[in-house]
Amino acid sequence: MNPQFQDKVAVVTGAGGTLCSAIAKHLAALGCKVVLVGRTREKLEKVAETLASFAPGASAPGRADLREKPLIAPCDVTDEAAVQTLAERVLAEWGPCRFLINGAGGNDPAAMPTRLRFSEEDLRASGSPPPPAGSTSPAAGSPTPAAGSPTPTSGSPSPAAGSTTPATGSPTPAATGSATPASGSRSPDSSGPREAAASRGFFDIDMAAFRRVLEINTLGTVIPSRAFGLQMARAGGGAILNFASMNTYRPLTRVAPYAMAKAGIANWTQFFAQYMAPAHVRVNAVAPGFMVNERSRKYLCTPDGGLSPRGEQVMAHTPMGRFGEAEDLLGCVEWLLDDTRAAFVTGITVPVDGGFLASAGV
Ligand SMILES: NC(=O)c1ccc[n+]([C@@H]2O[C@H](COP(=O)([O-])OP(=O)(O)OC[C@H]3O[C@@H](n4cnc5c(N)ncnc54)[C@H](OP(=O)(O)O)[C@@H]3O)[C@@H](O)[C@H]2O)c1
Repeated sequence: MNPQFQDKVAVVTGAGGTLCSAIAKHLAALGCKVVLVGRTREKLEKVAETLASFAPGASAPGRADLREKPLIAPCDVTDEAAVQTLAERVLAEWGPCRFLINGAGGNDPAAMPTRLRFSEEDLRASGSPPPPAGSTSPAAGSPTPAAGSPTPTSGSPSPAAGSTTPATGSPTPAATGSATPASGSRSPDSSGPREAAASRGFFDIDMAAFRRVLEINTLGTVIPSRAFGLQMARAGGGAILNFASMNTYRPLTRVAPYAMAKAGIANWTQFFAQYMAPAHVRVNAVAPGFMVNERSRKYLCTPDGGLSPRGEQVMAHTPMGRFGEAEDLLGCVEWLLDDTRAAFVTGITVPVDGGFLASAGV
């Protein structure tokens, strides 16, 4: 048993989800006392049931007494007061947090356009009148209306002649496997009734949803890092693990706020790593590739278990020729958290992607 993990407190946010439930189980198996954080108690309770049996020695006959019950902690990680209260509770009940896994994150279909690129439809959809006949079309690459401007100004240029709007049903990008929807939301590609009913461009998307996605995927990491990072510093050290994405490196289409936030995570990881180094708190991130979960399976795969067109796109860019599983992350996570094996490692973001980033796809 690695003493680095034995009886150490590990706080896992997003613990009810696909990736972090597996990480929580792994940390429990390594001997950590695990705190399961998410908004939905039922999800956490479900994970807790499977996790108790992973406590070291707990599966031995007659040694139920060895089972350390995980702490189930429903909490919104963007709520600063709630996270602070949780940090105080963890400290009081179990002692200082040694490992913080910032896995909570997600997307919101309301923040996703259904169209991939600017087109005439953007002008119409935003409510402005169509540009006057004979108005000039900008050349490819010329500026488009400012992001966030509710309506393009009258007479704003129309898109270049021949510019294309992807037809409905045309292959959509391989973007969305890494844009894991938040609870209750759909995968970015799924075309539920709402998306099917209306084609939506970037200028139609709901800025409140845009803000929410930015908040959960940025402040949802920063806020727990402040609360538990200070606790670690006071106790003499610890390790924090953040979640980046393939979007960290280049934005995939349709998931602008998620991509923007995940790019920010790599930057934040560097900032906080250098800031906390004197406190012996290491801060790193993983950038998972396309990990299949319940939702993404629906759009990456066909009902008979084959690949959807989108799944084929992802696969064409994945040299290892398969989707990832939550278990593919575990070795990297364990290494990054381990204060002996990764003692001099801080501020990095490690892709775990089957070679997706290395592939130009050609
Ligand atoms: N799966 C992938 O392919 C992939 C790829 C790249 C990066 N990632 C990132 O990896 C992390 C885990 O992904 P996953 O696939 O495991 O996602 P998931 O299955 O959707 O789990 C995410 C969890 O985060 C929780 N959560 C969301 N907002 C929260 C909030 N405000 N406060 C507390 N908890 C919140 C959700 O539970 P509640 O709704 O109950 O709160 C959910 O259980 C995310 O940061 C994701 O962006 C995933």
